[in-house]
Amino acid sequence: MSTLFPRLFFFLFALPLLADSASPTINDDVLGLIVFKADLIDPYSKLASWNEDDESPCNWVGVKCDPTSNRVAELALDGFDLSGKIGRGLLQLQSLRSLTLSRNNFSGSLISDLLRLDSLRSVDLSLNSLSGSIPDGFFSQCRYLRFLSLAKNSLSGQLPSNIGSCSTLASLNFSSNQFSGSLPGGIWYLNALRSLDLSYNFLTGEIPTGISHMFNLRLVSLRGNRLSGSLPQDFGDCFLLTSVDVSLNLLSGNLPISLRRLSACSYLGLGSNSISGQLPGWIAEMKSLQLLDLSKNQFSGQIASSIGDLQALEELNLSENRFEGSLPESIVNCKSLLFADFSRNLLTGSFPTWAFKLGMKRFIVSENKLSGSIQIPVTNSSSLAQIDLSSNFFSGNIPSEISSIHSLLFMNLSKNIISGSIPSSLGKLKSIEVIDLSWNQLNGSIPPDIGGAVSLKELTLKGNSLSGAIPNNIGNCASLNSLDLSENNLTGSIPPTIADITSLQNVDFSLNSLTGELPKQLGDLPHLLSFNISHNNFSGELPAGNFFNTISPSSLTDNPDLCGAAVNRSCPSVLPKPIVLNPNASSSIPSNPALPTDNLHHKRIIFSLSVLIAISAAAIIALGIITITILNFRVQASSPPLVATPPPSDYYLSQSPTTDADSGKLVMFSGDDQEFSAGAHALLHKDCELGRGGFGAVYKTILKNGHPVAIKKLMVSSLVKSQDEFDREVKKMGKLQHPNLVSLEGYYWTTSLQLLIYEYVAGGSLHKHLHENLLPTSLTWKERFDIILGTAKSLAYLHHHGVVHYNLKSSNILLDGSGRPKVGDYGLARLLPMLDRYVLSSKIQSALGYMAPEFACRTVKITEKCDVYGFGVLVLEIATGRKPVEYMEDDVVVLSDLVKAALDEDRVEDCMDEKLCGKFPIEEFVSVIKLGLICTSQVPSSRPDMAEVVNILDLIRCYQGSPEGQLN
Ligand SMILES: *[C@@H]1O[C@H](CO)[C@@H](O)[C@H](O)[C@H]1NC(C)=O
Ligand SMILES: *[C@@H]1O[C@H](CO)[C@@H](O)[C@H](O)[C@H]1NC(C)=O
Ligand SMILES: *[C@@H]1O[C@H](CO)[C@@H](O)[C@H](O)[C@H]1NC(C)=O
Ligand SMILES: *[C@@H]1O[C@H](CO)[C@@H](O)[C@H](O)[C@H]1NC(C)=O
Repeated sequence: MSTLFPRLFFFLFALPLLADSASPTINDDVLGLIVFKADLIDPYSKLASWNEDDESPCNWVGVKCDPTSNRVAELALDGFDLSGKIGRGLLQLQSLRSLTLSRNNFSGSLISDLLRLDSLRSVDLSLNSLSGSIPDGFFSQCRYLRFLSLAKNSLSGQLPSNIGSCSTLASLNFSSNQFSGSLPGGIWYLNALRSLDLSYNFLTGEIPTGISHMFNLRLVSLRGNRLSGSLPQDFGDCFLLTSVDVSLNLLSGNLPISLRRLSACSYLGLGSNSISGQLPGWIAEMKSLQLLDLSKNQFSGQIASSIGDLQALEELNLSENRFEGSLPESIVNCKSLLFADFSRNLLTGSFPTWAFKLGMKRFIVSENKLSGSIQIPVTNSSSLAQIDLSSNFFSGNIPSEISSIHSLLFMNLSKNIISGSIPSSLGKLKSIEVIDLSWNQLNGSIPPDIGGAVSLKELTLKGNSLSGAIPNNIGNCASLNSLDLSENNLTGSIPPTIADITSLQNVDFSLNSLTGELPKQLGDLPHLLSFNISHNNFSGELPAGNFFNTISPSSLTDNPDLCGAAVNRSCPSVLPKPIVLNPNASSSIPSNPALPTDNLHHKRIIFSLSVLIAISAAAIIALGIITITILNFRVQASSPPLVATPPPSDYYLSQSPTTDADSGKLVMFSGDDQEFSAGAHALLHKDCELGRGGFGAVYKTILKNGHPVAIKKLMVSSLVKSQDEFDREVKKMGKLQHPNLVSLEGYYWTTSLQLLIYEYVAGGSLHKHLHENLLPTSLTWKERFDIILGTAKSLAYLHHHGVVHYNLKSSNILLDGSGRPKVGDYGLARLLPMLDRYVLSSKIQSALGYMAPEFACRTVKITEKCDVYGFGVLVLEIATGRKPVEYMEDDVVVLSDLVKAALDEDRVEDCMDEKLCGKFPIEEFVSVIKLGLICTSQVPSSRPDMAEVVNILDLIRCYQGSPEGQLN
């Protein structure tokens, strides 16, 4: 490049002055090409060999010279990834005959005097990004040009009227630009033209007369413009025409009769216009026709039977017209016919016998009025790949001979009145990809042999009367991506083999009578987009995973026994069923003096309990741990009298399933108080350090001011609402202030970490006081009654403020230094994105025995009455000192059953906690027990509300002598 500019300067400015005395060392072609190169961008240096120091360009890439004159004759740079301008340097190439710059990305406009080069014969600038209109003088200078292609650029404007000046032009290709305006009449002066391609522009107006001058024309394509009017009457005078394509325009009128003279024409494309009239008998005179496309026009009348004389015809498309009458039998003579499309006409009559006879590949007659049965010659050598008979009136059975057409890929017989059963021989079609038999009157069952159609991608049997089960073998159709069996009378369950079809995307089993559970493995299907099982009788739990996590409820409607989050129904299997569905709790049980009678029954319970405990252990993960945990650590670290107290059972549950550092961190934090005395921020800023997994944990920490707090770290980040909603809900909870509630003192939010900061309550949980004998003294009756009353008041307060606790249990009730109960862990369900019964029951309401039966019963709405139930259980627990559910070696004792039985037998005093010491009115005890039983009514509406409970408790205390009257 260092020497280029002085030489260019010399070339551009000095050269003209030197005129004839040209220096022999300067080659015009070298400099012309170097100037051309200077105007373009060559990102991959493909023109690196173009060196301006060379004497001759003849060895440069893309350049060919005339051997005699040694001047550049051809420049072929197609597909060189060049861009930028096509520069005027080219005009120096005085001997250039052929210029090919196609398949680059040249932009800008055409050089106006490009064609001035006398030598030029061929110019191909196709497939670039040239824009602007054709300059006025562009064609006027053209002398000997034979080939010009500007196809696939962005040229616009009108075609110049002097286009006819290029009288030597044989091929003109302006396809795929944005030329507009009408076709200049001058175009028909190009009487050397053999090929004219103006397709895919925006040309309007009528086709000008005068085409008969074009006696050399072989090919004309005006396809894809907006030309109107009728085809020129003299079209047929261009009798050498072999290919005429005027499809996709706005042409109207009839076919000009002159077309009959186009006996050499092999391609006649008139599709997608508004041409009318009949398909005339003389069409047979166009005997070279290989393609006849009259689709999407307004042709009418019968299809001329002379069409059978078109021996060369390969493609016949008459679709979307108004042809009537029957399909001419003469078509059997079109020996070369491959594709025949008669769809969307008004054709009547019966199935044409020739459909299977020829070498036909595609036969389409959909949306006509054909009738009768489908006849397949027993011996046939059909090579049909596609048959579409849909939306006609075909009847009878599906002939089993169809299986002999091994080439079949696509078969659509939908929307006819075909009856009988699906022939099992369909399974022999090893290549078939699409079978659509929907909306017929097929009956019987789906043949298991269908599994033999191993290439099947789409199977649609919708809207028949098929019965029986879905065959297992369908799992062999390993390429299926769409399976629609909806609107039949299918029974049985979904075969698990369906889950083997990993390509499945769309499945529709709706509106059948299918039953059973959905195979769990369906959740593994990786490509599922829809899975409609609505209006069946499926039961059990929905599969989890992938698609099923976000399945739309409408795909599941009307399957009353289905459960899972998507249908907003909890699954009984994740609940402690034997406890929740205690059959005796609401009716008197005189015939059941002792609980441990039915061994078999209880074994079952024990089994389900152990399963449940496993489930709970995995599910709870610490949402239930509240300050108690901390208390224990605090005890270990700072050693008041409770040193030896083990953590509550919840603690173990929460610890055991965590595999990562959660539990370890917990211990470490609590053991090292110093670190936290630096202030809450030291803890809060540890964001991601704090742990992963699980649902929540609690830590105690001391704020800078020395104030101890309990910090609950929510580990339900995927479940927690957006920050705004979180803020709003937590602030609402912060406003709740009651002497019997653990007050929420603050919170902390990042997207990855949510902390709730609670009042620190020092006295341990009620659970510990009741069930762990390690405390020096047991609670007195008065203390217990106060705990019951305080708890009742706090719940009444919560309910009054529209908050349901959802998670009441003795380990969530803390006792402060003076023995006052403080209820914790309330309202956390409000932080979940939606109040979902399934999540509630399986993740939050994890405490066995406290859970109200309506959690298992999908039809009952869950209200604050579920807290009343939990409270009832708690009352019985406090009064008897027994756990809500106790499991012995081969027995399960459900507290409410036990107490009820004792009450019925008038020996309720036997249930009294042996550790209760001191004197107290026994009537008060009995009344409290009765209140507890009423609160545990199976039916939510039979339970009192908490405000009433508080009143009743007050009455019990006041009128301790006569409890009976007050409880009803
Ligand atoms: C072609 O060039 C135009 C600008 O002239 C640019 O927007 C476009 O991305 C280029 N196309 C390719 C394929 O390089
Ligand atoms: C016109 O050019 C386009 C693009 O190169 C090409 O696809 C088309 O076949 C050409 N037309 C004719 C009639 O050769
Ligand atoms: C027939 O023409 C219609 C409309 O132009 C088109 O959709 C269809 O694919 C064609 N049929 C065949 C067999 O090519
Ligand atoms: C399904 O079976 C029932 C009873 O057998 C019948 O009444 C009903 O018409 C059948 N439905 C269909 C679509 O065949």
